[in-house]
Amino acid sequence: MAAKEIKTIGVLTSGGDAPGMNAAIRAVVREGLSRGKKVKGIHRGYSGLLQGEIEDMTARSVSDTIQKGGTILQTARCLEFQTPEGQQLGADMCRKYGIDAVVVIGGDGSFRGAQKLAAHGINTVGVPGTIDLDIACTDYTIGFDTAVNTAMEAIDKIRDTSTSHERCSIIEVMGRGAGFIALWCGIANGAEDILLPEKYDYDEQKLVNHIIENRKKGKQHHIIINAEGIGHSTSMAKRIEAATGVETRATILGHMQRGGSPTCKDRVYASTMGCLAVDLLCQGKSNRVVAYKGGQFTDFDIDEALAMEKHIDEYDYQISLNLAR
Ligand code: ADP
Ligand code: F6P
Repeated sequence: MAAKEIKTIGVLTSGGDAPGMNAAIRAVVREGLSRGKKVKGIHRGYSGLLQGEIEDMTARSVSDTIQKGGTILQTARCLEFQTPEGQQLGADMCRKYGIDAVVVIGGDGSFRGAQKLAAHGINTVGVPGTIDLDIACTDYTIGFDTAVNTAMEAIDKIRDTSTSHERCSIIEVMGRGAGFIALWCGIANGAEDILLPEKYDYDEQKLVNHIIENRKKGKQHHIIINAEGIGHSTSMAKRIEAATGVETRATILGHMQRGGSPTCKDRVYASTMGCLAVDLLCQGKSNRVVAYKGGQFTDFDIDEALAMEKHIDEYDYQISLNLAR
């Protein structure tokens, strides 16, 4: 069967926002237009699709956006789209607005939505956008680089005051159930302990012993990077202070990690991925996700991508332990 020629591409952002999403939207719009397609922006993810919050995009709609954090299309989490009725309505809305293909920028959840739209005959391509880096088929996700740089700068500042007061600091970073942000920050910030959901054994006595040993060695601070997936940093700080006698403070970095101007890497990779998504749609492909794997941009079937598993790199984890001396 000949591939369906698409005329109008919709683009939406879904799930948590991530710096660099605007660069991806801009790329979809401008690459789409340069290939002779119409492009429509769908606001507020699947929620906006169901509500018909859809506008025609021109090259000017995305002017002055590549350097901006967040997403100019806004984003949302939409429960209704997880129901068969919601998915049918989503496909009907695409047809109503003449959209025959959609680029979905988001995480695994958003790709499940794209998979459902594809099953209803709307061609879809996913672009990995999440600060968490928790998408198995790709070594890069839009926003991770900016988020770890933002967190790293914040942690450097906490380290200054931690050293001045000779304190222990527990710093909680985002990542949902995944420890990638924590591992990267832990290595980049020279943390004494890095607690990853994938690795932590919940043995707090080991942390206490480590702090006491380090005091004896003359260390003036003790930085613990704690991943959101473990959480409970404030109560952990109280218990550690009581057990060690070392003043301990907890800082939860929170949503500041999701904002801010994207790094050069996030702008460039997001631009490339946006263009690749349009290229795949122009080739008549559907139910694909763009990825960066083994040093190359590539793409996978969404079903295959969602079935993959991602693990913490053992070598990175080992060096994080060896360097924390
Ligand atoms: P992320 O895309 O970052 O993983 P979520 O898991 O919150 O974020 O998913 C974003 C949105 O994608 C959800 O609010 C919902 O609208 C849609 N979605 C998630 N899972 C499914 C599913 N199984 N079927 C259809 N849509 C889904
Ligand atoms: O997926 C991105 C992320 O920032 C996670 O790290 C975090 O667990 C979650 O989103 C927070 O979501 P919300 O913005 O709904 O609080």
